[in-house]
Amino acid sequence: MYIGLDLGTSSLKAIAVDEAQRLVAEYSVPLTVQRPHDGWSEQDPQSWCDATIEALRALAGKVDLSGLRGIGLGGHMHGATLVGADDAPLRPCMLWNDTRSAKQAAAMDADARFRNLTGNIVFPGFTAPKVDWVRENEPDVFEKIAKVLLPKDYLRLFLTGEHVSEMSDAAGTSWLDTGARDWSDDLLAACHLSRDQMPALVEGSAVSGQLRADLAAALGLPRCVIAGGAGDNAAAAIGAGVVRDGTGFVSLGTSGVLFAANAGYRPDPATAVHTFCHAVPDTWHQMGVILAATDALNWLAQLTGQSAVALTQDLGDVTAPSRTLFLPYLGGERTPHNNAAIRGQFLHLDHATDAKEAARAVLQGVCYAFADCRDALAATGTTLPRALAMGGGAKSDHWLEMMATTLGFPLDVPEAGDFGAALGAARLGMMAAGASTDIATQPPLAKTIAPNTDLSAAMADGHGRYTQAYSILKDL
Ligand code: XUL
Repeated sequence: MYIGLDLGTSSLKAIAVDEAQRLVAEYSVPLTVQRPHDGWSEQDPQSWCDATIEALRALAGKVDLSGLRGIGLGGHMHGATLVGADDAPLRPCMLWNDTRSAKQAAAMDADARFRNLTGNIVFPGFTAPKVDWVRENEPDVFEKIAKVLLPKDYLRLFLTGEHVSEMSDAAGTSWLDTGARDWSDDLLAACHLSRDQMPALVEGSAVSGQLRADLAAALGLPRCVIAGGAGDNAAAAIGAGVVRDGTGFVSLGTSGVLFAANAGYRPDPATAVHTFCHAVPDTWHQMGVILAATDALNWLAQLTGQSAVALTQDLGDVTAPSRTLFLPYLGGERTPHNNAAIRGQFLHLDHATDAKEAARAVLQGVCYAFADCRDALAATGTTLPRALAMGGGAKSDHWLEMMATTLGFPLDVPEAGDFGAALGAARLGMMAAGASTDIATQPPLAKTIAPNTDLSAAMADGHGRYTQAYSILKDL
């Protein structure tokens, strides 16, 4: 038996799979995000540990875990979890969608070494500029930093007592030499930090430690191995068999990701495409990342007092795009704009615009943001012939048809819904435990959603209006 833990932004998901990778139990614990100021986004690391204990107990109550051999960890990327010499967090974790450090990020990005070594723009959401914000604004905290840990690596510290990270998540810090798969001493020194303050690095499929004896005893579990694991997107890719060059996925989660697996390291920072290590040795991947996908729909749900499900359930057939435009930049945008200051926009509202029409415009706006990511990937030379559809938003066929039509390629919908990153984490747990797994096997498909070619020209026209709207509104 193997367990995959996926520390998501809105929930911690835990699954147990057997030797044949069949799902035998699952359990989720909701998590909250605190936004004390505009642009801030934080979580209490203790809530991740509490959720993990609850989830492990729940799984143990559903299925016999006495033969547990491995656990894999996946989690939201880029968070800065700062711990002191006693391993206790020094402040709440600043998350991937926290944009307070735009000034620090721009200053680092102006130092050519960062793009050259990491292969990426230094985005405000990445780890390094957030730690630099702490240096400038909370010097007492900065002085006490013994280790900087990514969110799932803090969970690993709790589970194993070890300070370890792995390549895919480390690549999103702005301190990794992504081609060499090692910390860059130069980049750390540029941030007044040293290698001692970083966790050790392993590959995602390697052993990072063992479940702590006291925790194993308290939970009634064997002292199994814990795999390096992966950042949530690389973990989802491993879960979906997206490893070979030319394979990819569209993820409609809190954030939106257009992911492409690459055989080699293909950085192109000018495009605002992210180029990171994949979770297995000698592989890399690229992604276009938008900060609000289902997050935009949930925002509208809150505003209208209707649930996201209610807002999207009776939208009818996909028709010509709404004239109402929505730009989903509620907390700034990464690909292709790298603009932390831009905010969301509704345009072309009229008397007839009701909540349903607004919902259609929100779904459409997210599709246009993905079209921007497709174009950014194409500028690096990467095109996808088709992609898997993942994440909570992939439950809406309406959204997927709009997306396939906007992107111009078919989307394959896996049978087993939303276990992407947790399944990938479990697969990495299997590899670390020495079980044989073919990680390039893709899941069985429930259906394929093809582009509606009758609407392709209209969607392309809508994307053009959307691009024009951004260029007019970006400096407001
Ligand atoms: C990727 C990114 C998000 C988070 C949260 O660069 O910031 O996808 O990992 O899911």
